[in-house]
Amino acid sequence: MEQWSDKYLLGINEIDEQHRGFFELCNHKPLSEMDRAEMALMLEQLNDYIENHFRHEQELMKQAKYPDLESHLAEHKFFIQKVQEMKQEYSYMNPLLYEKITIFMKRWFLSHIMSSDRKYQEHVINYLNQQT
Ligand SMILES: [Fe+2]
Repeated sequence: MEQWSDKYLLGINEIDEQHRGFFELCNHKPLSEMDRAEMALMLEQLNDYIENHFRHEQELMKQAKYPDLESHLAEHKFFIQKVQEMKQEYSYMNPLLYEKITIFMKRWFLSHIMSSDRKYQEHVINYLNQQT
């Protein structure tokens, strides 16, 4: 898994803390070494994490009146669906689940944080600066 690096920083403290927390969740223990109970816990944590994190981001984008909110929310919805799918595959004991989770996490970070979250970055920072 990727390690946290400052290149992932957006300059929005709460969001950066949450993004960093995601890496901690991913790097807690290699997926391939997890037993079924640990895997279930990890999926539950991943589920809670993205629900909380997305809710937070969404609130911030709304407050800042970010104009491209809809397409960003569509991406979040896609990720939430993916996690639901992985939870189902867990119950079917899909042997490719390790791989799927890894791809999901990498894809999220490489594309979502580095590209989609960057799109609201300036808008939200400007908004937060006006508040102080
Ligand atoms: Fe996002």
